[in-house]
Amino acid sequence: MKKSLIALAASAAVLAFAVQTQLPPVLQGHATKLKDAQTLKAKLQVDEVGGSRTIVEITYSRPNFFKVDGPTQLVLGDGANVTVLEKGKNSYSQTAYGTDATTKSTGTALVWAWASFYQLDTTKLFKAAKPSPATKLRGVEVTPVEVTAADGKSTATVYIETKTGVARGFQTKADGKDYIVWAETIEVGTAAMPPTAFSFVAPAGSTKVDPNAAPEANWATVSTIFTQNCMPCHSAQIRSGTLDLSSYAAATSSRFIVKGDAKTSALALSLRAVGGKRMPQGRPPLPEAKIKSIESWINDGLKQ
Ligand code: HEC
Repeated sequence: MKKSLIALAASAAVLAFAVQTQLPPVLQGHATKLKDAQTLKAKLQVDEVGGSRTIVEITYSRPNFFKVDGPTQLVLGDGANVTVLEKGKNSYSQTAYGTDATTKSTGTALVWAWASFYQLDTTKLFKAAKPSPATKLRGVEVTPVEVTAADGKSTATVYIETKTGVARGFQTKADGKDYIVWAETIEVGTAAMPPTAFSFVAPAGSTKVDPNAAPEANWATVSTIFTQNCMPCHSAQIRSGTLDLSSYAAATSSRFIVKGDAKTSALALSLRAVGGKRMPQGRPPLPEAKIKSIESWINDGLKQ
């Protein structure tokens, strides 16, 4: 499961698309219970069918606090900011709450069955919902409810636990893969948690990144920029100022690029320089987004 939870949100949006329906009581009951709750805590086993298991922990508390903690990402809403921590890179970004911060972050594909906690009108979630007789799943008695998205194309099965009346798990397709998500533990609470439970504490050594920064760049990204803007002056044949940008090896071995540090790389500096050796020579400066791509390619270690 390499895709981030956020990336999977697109498929959840399909399921959350609105059509007015009469929900079966068992599903309506689940939605009402979550809407009336003050907190929701669950430890989810996310099994990709034929693939690996990952654990995602969700913690929601009124009025608008949330935490979705997965293997690669932590998404935390502290009431003022939404922080996304990329665990592999140990970097995080923060944005101020938008109006839909809670529904967006708690409605992603792998946690959508519990989205009713923040989704105000659950009766609009599905086009059709069909319950089957109660059955036992992983030792727990549940009522399977097959739901159909508004476009009629995607379906999922939600398993509502008989004892609690709340979803214990679901099965769905996201990003072309089948997933079974099952709550190993789930707790619906009646007293909101203290806001401090949702404070973000930056891990040691982590870096804060600009959420609007250019997306991760690799050689394919920057070589396109070089080809369009730096040729023919910096080709293998011409090599103005000894700089050859025609191949990964030639570019990265030049003394104008300092791996991991755009601030001391003459190449990156030349793009923002005024006069003198400002590049591309004799042409207008590159647009900000392209400069940022080159800078992040250098800062992120010259990805091939
Ligand atoms: C029209 C030709 C031309 C284009 C286009 C051009 N350059 Fe240059 N570039 C030169 C010349 C000529 C030099 C040598 C200048 C000197 O040594 O004074 C140079 C030198 C450089 C240097 C070395 C600067 C130094 O400190 O000595 C860098 C880095 C550089 N270019 C990067 C770029 C990048 C990146 C692009 C594309 C975004 C680019 N150039 C586009 C002509 C060009």
